[in-house]
Amino acid sequence: SKKPIRVAVTGAAGQIGYSLLFRIASGSMFGPDQPVALNLIEIEPAMGALEGVMMELDDCAFPLLADVRGSCDLNEGFKDVNWALLVGSVPRKAGMERGDLLNINGKIFTGQGQAIEKNAASDVRTVVVGNPCNTNCLIAMNNAKSIPQDRWFAMTRLDENRAITQLASKAGVHSTEVTNMTIWGNHSATQYPDFYNAKIGGKPAAEVINDEGWLKDTFIPVVQQRGAAIIKARGSSSAASAANAVVDTVRSLTTPTAPGNWNSVAVCSKGEYDTKPGLITSLPIVSDGTNWSVAENVPVNEFSRAKIDASVDELATEHDLVKGLL
Ligand code: NAI
Repeated sequence: SKKPIRVAVTGAAGQIGYSLLFRIASGSMFGPDQPVALNLIEIEPAMGALEGVMMELDDCAFPLLADVRGSCDLNEGFKDVNWALLVGSVPRKAGMERGDLLNINGKIFTGQGQAIEKNAASDVRTVVVGNPCNTNCLIAMNNAKSIPQDRWFAMTRLDENRAITQLASKAGVHSTEVTNMTIWGNHSATQYPDFYNAKIGGKPAAEVINDEGWLKDTFIPVVQQRGAAIIKARGSSSAASAANAVVDTVRSLTTPTAPGNWNSVAVCSKGEYDTKPGLITSLPIVSDGTNWSVAENVPVNEFSRAKIDASVDELATEHDLVKGLL
């Protein structure tokens, strides 16, 4: 029988965790033939709630779930993990400046980066979900310098999925018709969902939709502000859809991308598309199932250039606010 893939999830007793753990354990992330083991990491005050979540995992009797460990100790939590999914973070509270949030979370991600480097399996790959996810990922990566930079990711897949559905619904087609949807830059309100390169039924989305005003003035802000719209409607932030996007992110990195298509993941830039090297920037990514690369020759017009630059500038500002932690 196959060796289980060991997955750490931080913030495991939180909202996203409550959806994500069950998707991983049921086989959605690594497929129906691959056993998984879970290392669930929480802070001390949430260990009681985590115990309850672990009882529910037991009560599913998942055929693929090899074992589950819960811990609030980072060394124990990241021991031997092949994937580290960093979901837990401290949410922004009223009156908190962006810089305060970056620093509070920054301290979490220095410790987690160090513990991953010290304890994880030699093939460990890390996906940061907890916000501000790009910069949290930058901090963790820079505190684990022996782990290659191409093993660090921050999640912009929820933004990609949101953008796909907006385009599909405008065009009156199913979401599976929409491909090549890039989110460029930061997972924040400056992100740029690139409708110029997206395709609908294999044709340029802008041609199919034929309404540049809608694409620029409605589509972009709807995608950028979708998180806030969910909070307004639901009373809490996106959780099941965020967990689904984590599953999609890992799945897309571990299975071959359909020829000609790509997906959005924030990775450590090497300067592709004139983004700033060393920042964790969302780019169009293709995978062969084992290794990933940045999709090549994606045209960037003047409109796109300005949007990408604005989002990357924001990442550079975040970098400057946390540079003492790198
Ligand atoms: P939540 O507040 O329900 O759960 C967070 C959990 O993390 C809590 O159980 C808390 O105890 C735990 N936690 C806090 N600090 C921790 C630490 N140092 N180590 C381990 N666990 C810790 O939040 P939710 O809804 O699950 O969201 C989690 C994060 O994901 C938030 O930062 C949110 O902004 C972010 N998010 C990111 C998205 C993306 O697209 N990248 C989409 C949706 C949410």
